[in-house]
Amino acid sequence: MAINFIGTGRAVPPKRVSNDDLAAQLDTSDEWIRSHTGIGNRHIADENITCSDLAAEAARNAMAMAAGYTGEDLTERNKAAAEIAPTIDMIVLATVTPDYFGTPSAACIVQEKIGAKNAAAMDIIAGCTGFVYGLETAAGLLSVNPQRKRALVIGAELLSKMINWDDRATCVLFGDGAGAALIEKTDGSGGLKHTLMSADGSGHESLLFRRGGTRYPFKKGEVIDTGICVEMNGQEVYNFAVKAVTDTIGALMKTKIDGYAEIKMDDITRIVPHQANLRIVQAAAKRLKIPFEKIYMNIEEYANTSSATIPIALDELNRSGEIKKGDLIFTVGFGGGLTYGGNIIIW
Ligand code: ACO
Repeated sequence: MAINFIGTGRAVPPKRVSNDDLAAQLDTSDEWIRSHTGIGNRHIADENITCSDLAAEAARNAMAMAAGYTGEDLTERNKAAAEIAPTIDMIVLATVTPDYFGTPSAACIVQEKIGAKNAAAMDIIAGCTGFVYGLETAAGLLSVNPQRKRALVIGAELLSKMINWDDRATCVLFGDGAGAALIEKTDGSGGLKHTLMSADGSGHESLLFRRGGTRYPFKKGEVIDTGICVEMNGQEVYNFAVKAVTDTIGALMKTKIDGYAEIKMDDITRIVPHQANLRIVQAAAKRLKIPFEKIYMNIEEYANTSSATIPIALDELNRSGEIKKGDLIFTVGFGGGLTYGGNIIIW
């Protein structure tokens, strides 16, 4: 049995906010943001857009690709996506910014929006490692039931609505976006070959939305302020992230997969890391002696879109032809929880 990738898609809001745009209203600068993070821009959704809107758009693009359509015409795209919709058995949506808190899942809303009426649907919360976790979750769910064949795995975030726009230490880091992959269980080869999923819960306070859950619920009459926004201990997350990326890539390289006695650096076409900070990836690459051109970065354009960074990057590489059938791809993610992990994919 193989788990193959038959379509990818992404959805990024058209509104682009540069570092200079932020510096016009906040005590920051393009120079500081670029030199500390590698970020140049971020895309921000309009007020009326939700997580499930972006997720459904990314999903439709992945579904249309699976049906053979990759053009720009939305009517044709929707027609192609609609052909595929009833064949989807499962939607796994990784997000930390769902439409609603707790229930319903954003995945159920996506199910309705894309017309995937035969699909089970659920969200998973694994911070920025969500898509990495989502691939293994969906692959596992396909493998245990012979009736299930296809799953949509989506990472989608609307972080702009969960950011304190007065806090320069966090607001410059994040953006909105969604990416999706349609995977299929086949008798072929290639596809998702291996995954690693890890967590270190002792760091759960390093990155969180503190208020609104059962730990610190909202109280009657309370004025809700910044407690609903993302809080982060930047230094702690930074140190954790460099180790997580280094350890995960190191462990993936030691994995035995079909066709490779051992995986050597030359065998890997691309490493697709979570895009949180260019310096984190540079530090890990230096430790592992990875030629930096192997690593795909698009943080300059999108900033950190949490669980969406990896599927957005995969879709960019796929649509541009930079990754082709048979190429060996590593993904590596890290984020709130704290969680980390990676996937080995033969495209
Ligand atoms: N503009 C200008 N100055 C700033 C800004 C800003 N946007 N933000 C912070 N500063 C200032 C601070 O106030 C501080 O000033 P001070 O020395 O006068 O007190 C100075 O810059 C240094 O601040 P640090 O926080 O020490 O800066 P650091 O070099 O650690 O960079 C950063 C901060 C970029 C957040 C870094 O710690 C980091 O990248 N951490 C990891 C973050 C991360 O990866 N998060 C996401 C992972 S999980 C997920 O994706 C959800």
